[in-house]
Amino acid sequence: MKDIDWEHLTFSYTPTAYIIRSHYANGAWSKPYATTDPYIPIHAAAAALQYAQQAFEGLKAYRTVDNRVSIFRPEMNAKRMQQSAEAMYMAPVPTDLFIEACEMAVRYNIDYLPPFETGATLYLRPILFGTEPKIEVRPSGECEFCVVASPIGAYFPAGFGTTPCVINRHVDRASRLGTGQWKVGGNYASSFRATEPANEQGIGVLFLDSEEHKYLDECGAANILLVKDGKYVTPLSHSILPSIINDSLMTLCRDLGIEVEQRRITVEELGSFSEAAEIGTGAAISPISRIIDPDKGVTYEYGERPGKLCTRLYHAIRDIQYGRVPDTHGWRHYVDL
Ligand SMILES: Cc1ncc(COP(=O)(O)O)c(C=O)c1O
Repeated sequence: MKDIDWEHLTFSYTPTAYIIRSHYANGAWSKPYATTDPYIPIHAAAAALQYAQQAFEGLKAYRTVDNRVSIFRPEMNAKRMQQSAEAMYMAPVPTDLFIEACEMAVRYNIDYLPPFETGATLYLRPILFGTEPKIEVRPSGECEFCVVASPIGAYFPAGFGTTPCVINRHVDRASRLGTGQWKVGGNYASSFRATEPANEQGIGVLFLDSEEHKYLDECGAANILLVKDGKYVTPLSHSILPSIINDSLMTLCRDLGIEVEQRRITVEELGSFSEAAEIGTGAAISPISRIIDPDKGVTYEYGERPGKLCTRLYHAIRDIQYGRVPDTHGWRHYVDL
């Protein structure tokens, strides 16, 4: 194992030994291979650079309590990347290839997989992009698929806590029939102008629907969960990225007999919820203390401490990820080392 200060890792890139690569040309994917060179020579006119013909994923490998290594639901990320690829006119990466490349990224970088006790994980970042030179506005017929790995720190080094969030009506993350439901780089680059100024002050950004700015959409790079009368409520919209953690939490709620509602939620309704949280691979659940609406001069308060249901679900999902409880849904994908 590498001599890394696991306790002080943050959510930022730490170099690892290998990246995994595969190329698509003439209708076929090459066998994935590991390389120590993290640089990829790319034609200056490649469609990825000209037209942002690109998609990516994010998932984590965990060292479990019994010292095995498990990736959380990688087949879901494979499926989501296939949907993003189709939307961007790229060759979809077959599920077997996606999972094999993720497993290789773990095996080749096993020295960078943090120890169980630290709460740190090995983050996997699959990327897919068009490599053919294209000056005409057309998609590339050739693509590169890579998996980059990086150890990342525990999301809550100081303990499970809350952060505030602000509503932004001046930037739309995605339009109704745009690309919000896919994980493509352009969605993120185009929201930096909203997220960066807020994140610098330790505040998350809540985006609304782009047509009326009336309904909740997403929170930065996460879905949002709300609690009303003990019920789990999460927005339904055309432009939300289908979160794998949200899907998992809704399943866990149904297992626990907790009612789940996925529906449109108006901004005004924020006053009727008892808990709110951002949800996604990064933190699993990151509770929200308050949602500030600067345009209306209103603040919705959810408490400085994580609420009851958020805390219960946070422990429930982490117990599955770290192998502390039986895996009744087959979510742990063990990697043979
Ligand atoms: C825009 C956006 N929404 C939601 C999520 C959460 O998705 P997941 O639970 O699959 O990590 C992410 C992170 O991937 C994201 O980038």
